Amino acid sequence: MKVKGTPMRPIQPSADGQAVSIIDQTKLPHEFVLARLETLADAANAIRAMLVRGAPLIGATAAYGVWLAMRADASDEALENAIDTLAATRPTAINLRWALEDMRGTLAPLPPADRPAAAFARAGAIADEDVAINHAIGRHGLEIIRRLVAGKRPGEPVNILTHCNAGWLATVDWGTATSPIYQAHDAGIPVHVWVDETRPRNQGAGLTAWELANHGVPHKVIVDNAGGHLMQHGLVDMVIVGTDRTTATGDVCNKIGTYLKALAARDNGVPFYVALPSPTIDWSLSDGRAIPIEERDAAEVTHVWGRTVDGEVLPVRVTPEESSVANYGFDVTPARLVTGLITERGIAEASREGLLALFPEYRARA
Ligand code: MRU
Repeated sequence: MKVKGTPMRPIQPSADGQAVSIIDQTKLPHEFVLARLETLADAANAIRAMLVRGAPLIGATAAYGVWLAMRADASDEALENAIDTLAATRPTAINLRWALEDMRGTLAPLPPADRPAAAFARAGAIADEDVAINHAIGRHGLEIIRRLVAGKRPGEPVNILTHCNAGWLATVDWGTATSPIYQAHDAGIPVHVWVDETRPRNQGAGLTAWELANHGVPHKVIVDNAGGHLMQHGLVDMVIVGTDRTTATGDVCNKIGTYLKALAARDNGVPFYVALPSPTIDWSLSDGRAIPIEERDAAEVTHVWGRTVDGEVLPVRVTPEESSVANYGFDVTPARLVTGLITERGIAEASREGLLALFPEYRARA
């Protein structure tokens, strides 16, 4: 995607080839700031503190984090330490573990002297593969949007609701849930996006809305509880969300609140689609309730961050000092509520057989 006319990825090797350049997503939408990752610790901190976030981008950052570690020390011990350090940053998105396993498989058989170059090449390939996967997801999702537009009056937009940010900022490019939206918009199909604000970290209000505004896609930010009301009134034609981990049986783990959107969609006959890159499938799990759900700092709930009229970005307390809070980051939408899984190979029914029909090479593992 482009920012002010400049092609931009949320992660890429720095111009001097000595580091990794990321967009610091904790600063958006107020400031557009690039940050430089030079060490394993920088990469681990960027994932943990959510300078980068979104399942595919976490995976790509972990891969580059292994490269940064190998530049400093390419021994077997350093490789295992890098993998353990990065794996401990966030628990839910399977892409993190997927990327680390891939890096281990690539690097472990090599002599240490060859590892830095091989790690850089493989991290770049993982990033490029993500872009291709997301573009393909967009092509398949576009066909769904084309079918919906057929039932509309000329010029009337297809109304799409999304939750959190499964946009290009959450991936290496295109996004997953947003890829069909961008491709429809670029093809001249009128689309309008309902953007859930996505408390507590406001990835919808701060990141998805910023992306859509940057690309010129019509959208409105809504509070997290508005979706059911909109669906009851025929104002949502489809829901598309991303996922952090989807089981071999099609249970979908995504940002907290996704499940409630799926329930409202089912009650109102609104199709509920999940954009699912294959590295996000956990072939070892059959029950979504086994997915580890991240619990984050209470401060994300007790405070909201915003820009004051003076231009300062500040946290403001919204709960009583004496109230304790719980901050679950993700929830699981059971496969029975999912209309379809939009993968890079096509649209799968949310079931083991549905996924295996598109990914038969996993039959022995699933
Ligand atoms: O906590 P986050 O911001 O990392 O959560 C992101 C999401 O839940 C996204 O929907 C998911 O990672 C899919 S990104 C293509």
